[in-house]
Amino acid sequence: MQSDTTRSVALLGSTGSIGTQSLDVIARTPGLFRVAALAAGGGRVDLLARQAAEFGPDVVAVADASALPALREALAARGVTAKVLAGPEGVAEAAAWPSDVVLNGVTGALGLTSTLAALEAGRVLALANKESLIVGGPLVKRLAKPGQLIPVDSEHSALAQCLWAAGPSGADASAVRRLVVTASGGPFRGRSRAELADVTPEQALAHPTWSMGPVITVNSATLVNKGLEVIEAHLLFDIGFDRIDVVVHPQSIVHSMVEFVDGSTVAQASPPDMRLPIALALGWPGRVRDAAPAVDWTRAGVWTFEPLDDEAFPAVELARHVGSEGGTAPAVYNAANEVCVDAFLAGRLPFLGIVDTVAAVVSEHTVTGADTVDEVLGADEWARIRARELTATA
Ligand SMILES: NC(=O)c1ccc[n+]([C@@H]2O[C@H](COP(=O)([O-])OP(=O)(O)OC[C@H]3O[C@@H](n4cnc5c(N)ncnc54)[C@H](OP(=O)(O)O)[C@@H]3O)[C@@H](O)[C@H]2O)c1
Repeated sequence: MQSDTTRSVALLGSTGSIGTQSLDVIARTPGLFRVAALAAGGGRVDLLARQAAEFGPDVVAVADASALPALREALAARGVTAKVLAGPEGVAEAAAWPSDVVLNGVTGALGLTSTLAALEAGRVLALANKESLIVGGPLVKRLAKPGQLIPVDSEHSALAQCLWAAGPSGADASAVRRLVVTASGGPFRGRSRAELADVTPEQALAHPTWSMGPVITVNSATLVNKGLEVIEAHLLFDIGFDRIDVVVHPQSIVHSMVEFVDGSTVAQASPPDMRLPIALALGWPGRVRDAAPAVDWTRAGVWTFEPLDDEAFPAVELARHVGSEGGTAPAVYNAANEVCVDAFLAGRLPFLGIVDTVAAVVSEHTVTGADTVDEVLGADEWARIRARELTATA
């Protein structure tokens, strides 16, 4: 990437796993990026104020308005004079703040407002918050202009790189036979369904290859994350669900692959480190020098691939089903899952109850088109209420 132009970044979810790794990329590449806006939920005000003092944004936003006094105090103590915004509208204003690229690293469906605000303002959107694309599929796709949406998820960054690296055949949809999304398999790979019955939150939070926020870590253990990623791949690359495969690759080095009609497969490989796809999305299409360590080819290593056990982990098949139904179905899958993950982490729902409950909520839902924000939020709210009812009696 050229260092003669500095790219300004609005970073949403700056205090989380993606957010702090994004700031690490920015701090280690002086002159390449400038932080224009920082936004977070409000749970870690002190960290947010420290980030503002270090990176000097124009604006700082917190979603939880009750965190505003503490934030103002923490910013004043560090001599930060940035504009301060609060509430969901404040975060949306930060998303639309003048910048070259918005990185949405918020967790969950509530990232939708920021995704829509950034796209409406014409910003390039580096999307870690896959939930907003999945939940608001038709809305987001209608708003996003070609090239405006850049994936941050390592699998989708890999798919974009494979298509790009393949040159003319990557740009020709008829030359692509299938997308192959890799999955680490999570901490419970190899277990049967019966062996998953007594899994604890502590075990589910111990991911073998990635260090991430709690929701995506549990989603990786249930494979709901892979289900969401299959829908995300469909929406980003316009490939039918029958042409998107999932393969388990426990080493998490091959981040995904594209198979072409002649039988050739292009793969993207790098050790598991989110700073690489983050840096690529921030600098897209330029590559940021030394964003993360490369594969060390001087050391012996083994990469393995195995099929997914759909009986033990039915979340991916369920995601294919809701993805194919389209409309509000993916929003319901995601919302029910968010409620179930909370219930599991609070000790109110067994591990297997997460996907079983999501399936029950999905089966009760009457799908509509998801053409307006109200319709999407209505389906999301209905699914949350229904999932809470079901988990209360679980
Ligand atoms: N972590 C990974 O390696 C990884 C990899 C691929 C994709 N992703 C995706 O990236 C997204 C973020 O994941 P994560 O692991 O970074 O989550 P995380 O560690 O839980 O961080 C979430 C961030 O969102 C902020 N936040 C919460 N509510 C908000 C709101 N209403 N408005 C603005 N900010 C809000 C949090 O602020 P507080 O600190 O104030 O709560 C925090 O900064 C998810 O969609 C996930 O699926 C993550």
